[in-house]
Amino acid sequence: MKSSYEKPDFWSQKAKTEGYPARSVYKLAEIDEKFHLLKAGGRFLDIGAAPGSWSLWILRRLGGKGFLAAVDLQGLGPELAQAPSFGNFRFIRGDLYAEEVRSELIGLGPYDGVFSDAAPSTTGNRIVDQGASEAIVESVLAWSYDCLAPGGSLVAKIFQGGAERSLMDGLRQRFAAVRGFKPKACRAESFETYLVATGFRG
Ligand SMILES: C[S@@+](CC[C@H](N)C(=O)[O-])C[C@H]1O[C@@H](n2cnc3c(N)ncnc32)[C@H](O)[C@@H]1O
Repeated sequence: MKSSYEKPDFWSQKAKTEGYPARSVYKLAEIDEKFHLLKAGGRFLDIGAAPGSWSLWILRRLGGKGFLAAVDLQGLGPELAQAPSFGNFRFIRGDLYAEEVRSELIGLGPYDGVFSDAAPSTTGNRIVDQGASEAIVESVLAWSYDCLAPGGSLVAKIFQGGAERSLMDGLRQRFAAVRGFKPKACRAESFETYLVATGFRG
């Protein structure tokens, strides 16, 4: 029997119809519907952006105003081919751990929102995968402290079952509100969830 990773499901079909390269777009849409993070004319950073669904959704919502920066080890899908010509989009193909990537993207801030869907390639060993996911989240949090505007928001994907509680405690020192949230569009067998922090204190 095929796992839900192999079967085209409702969200994959919807993404195809609506021109998004991946079904993950509906996770961000649901997070935004609940927490109202995307502001017209705002500046945003998308970390772990490829193949580009979150970026495309944000750019469509911004409608030519505001600014989006994005980074990923991989290139963006063909759906994003026109995006640089929007004039308000900067994509860097690179590693979020690389200092030159970090300094360029932080220099393009401050941002009203830092959104990270970045995830390590999974090995199947849950402890190893959780550790790699936590390392990414710790790095994303450090970025956000350096480039969020006061009042800004953070979204960071994390694999459940590890350090999310202590990471949330750390976030509470810096943000007015912090929640864990698992969108319905996450696959049933996935152990990912999202940390959502709003009201950055600066
Ligand atoms: C689930 S995908 C993101 C999907 C994307 N949000 C979308 O909607 O199209 C996770 C991404 O994290 C990226 N990633 C993982 N480690 C990274 C790193 N060290 N630096 C940059 N990107 C990384 C992967 O290359 C992958 O494209």
